[in-house]
Order: sequence, then C-alpha cells, then structure tokens
Amino acid sequence: MRSWLFVPCDSERKIEKALASPADVVILDMEDSVAIGNKPQARQILKSLLANRPATNAQIYVRVNPLDSGLTELDLEATQAHLPDGYMLPKTNSGDDVKAFNQSLGQSRPIIAIATETAASLFTLGTYGNLNANLTAMTWGAEDLSNALGATTAYNEQGNLTEPYRMARNLCLAGARAANVEPIDSIYPNFKDPDGLRIQALAAARDGFTGKMAIHPNQIDVINDVFTPSATEIENAQKIIEAFKESKNQGVVAIDGQMYDIPHLKRAEKLLARSRALS
Ligand code: COA
Ligand code: MG
Repeated sequence: MRSWLFVPCDSERKIEKALASPADVVILDMEDSVAIGNKPQARQILKSLLANRPATNAQIYVRVNPLDSGLTELDLEATQAHLPDGYMLPKTNSGDDVKAFNQSLGQSRPIIAIATETAASLFTLGTYGNLNANLTAMTWGAEDLSNALGATTAYNEQGNLTEPYRMARNLCLAGARAANVEPIDSIYPNFKDPDGLRIQALAAARDGFTGKMAIHPNQIDVINDVFTPSATEIENAQKIIEAFKESKNQGVVAIDGQMYDIPHLKRAEKLLARSRALS
C-alpha cells in the first residue's frame, strides 16, 4: 500500500473527498486532527460510516487515540459493530503497546504503529518483531517527537529535518525491516509543494520505504507514482535476472561494465514481485 491519506473524522466533506481519491488507504483520524470537543461527533460519524460503508477502492483504516489518552476504548467501541480494514496506533512506546492494543481489539485486524512520537520510543525501535499481533506496517512522525524532546522545531534553516528526526526516520525503517513489516514514510506537510513532496518520496523509496503518508488528496498521485516500479526499473530488473540465468549458476555477472552479484539479483526479484503485486 503506497499512499496513506489522513482525513479528520469530524469532517464528512473531507471524508467523502478522501474516499473518492486514488489513495490506497484512507485513515479516518480520531486523534490529533480532531479537537477534543469534536471527538464525540467524530465517533458518531465513524460509526455510521462503517455501518454504511461507501463504495471506494481505498482500504479504510482508523487512527485511534493513543493508549494513555483514556479515549482508545471509546474509539474502539465505535468500530466494533462494523470493523474497519485496519487500525493505526499512534504514540507507541514499544512493541508492548501494539501487543496490548491487539488484545483489546479482540479480533484480528492489520495494525500500523506510529513508532517514533515519544522520547522513550527512540530506544525501542527494535522491539516490534514477533509480537503475535497483526502488525503489518510502521511509520514515524516528527511533530509529536519534537514536542516531546522540547525542540522549537524539527527543521533547520534550509527546511530540512534536523538530526533527531533523521535518526527517528532511519531507525523506524530499520525497526520495520527487522520486524518484517512495511516501513512507511511520514507526511510532507507542505501540501502546495508537489516538487518538494516528490524529492522526499523519492529519497524514501530509495532508502527502502514502501509507501508514504499524505495529508491532502493532491499529494496522492505523486506518492503512487514514486512507489510504483517504473518501466525502466522493471526492464533493468529483468536484464539482471536474465544475465544470471544465462550465466548458469554464477554468483556474479557483468552488464554494461557493471558488476552484479547476489544482493542485486534478490533486489531485482523483489522489484518484479512488487510490480506484479501492484498490477
Ligand atoms: N482529505 C480529503 N479532502 C481534503 C483533505 C483531506 N486530507 N484535505 C483537504 N481536502 C479537501 C478540502 O476539503 C477542499 O475541498 P472543498 O473545497 O470541497 O471543501 C479541497 O480538498 C482543497 O483543500 P485546500 O483548500 O487545498 O485545503 P484546506 O485549507 O481546506 O485544508 C488541511 C488543509 C491541512 C486543513 C487539510 O488538508 C487537512 O485537514 N488535512 C488532513 C490533516 C490531518 O488529518 N492531520 C493528521 C495527521 S498529520
Ligand atoms: Mg500527532
């Protein structure tokens, strides 16, 4: 799943737009984009939307309030009669939080954790494997983390993330891979800057992330494009696989003056598998 679009669950207008967008996943947000006074109304909207599920190509996920908010149970109650396709759990401190949440679900549903939003969370990014819970993806966030760390901002003068948030991003990637779940890149907050979004998404895809969060429908096309293997990438992968076949059991081959060994072969096979899964 390449594009994950947040939508505040107290806005029926935005929900309608999100479900009509090309997002792979729409995340109905009960947490930070809904003011505390609007949460009961958002819960009503959530309940009735799940009961009368509109036709959409998107998976419908729900971001519940975090475990220490005292609101998680109320959010879950609103989803019990008609389950969403998955849940997002914010502000996890470690894999134990996912385990506890999974138990309170009662039924198995995919879970994506936002695993870098508290100070303590930075020390536990390797604890998300073998949870015996349906954790399928992990993502990171800079805004809550910068609050938790006492920073004035997460960005430097050039508009780039500073060291603590680069570290959180990178550890989330490694933690997700170590746990054998999908690493999903965080949001790009400037929704009127498609070029900047593309640069960030390309960097994420290059590093190993397989999708990216979005906050606005106009970010979805860029994200879907970047996280779909291109014709050139597919062709190059096929060339590598062909070269290994022709070499009859060599561990290393040369194509156009470049060395390719087993990691390149595995990467090419993964890319083709991903392309097949998306088509
Ligand atoms: N999902 C669905 N529709 C959205 C949307 C979203 N995330 N963000 C904007 N839209 C809609 C708007 O409602 C508007 O439609 P309308 O003109 O028919 O009302 C249209 O897209 C254009 O929106 P625009 O004017 O460019 O932006 P805005 O000022 O209305 O909204 C935000 C800007 C940031 C408030 C809005 O994009 C938003 O709510 N994003 C999600 C925030 C969120 O969930 N954050 C939590 C996770 S970090
Ligand atoms: Mg938040």
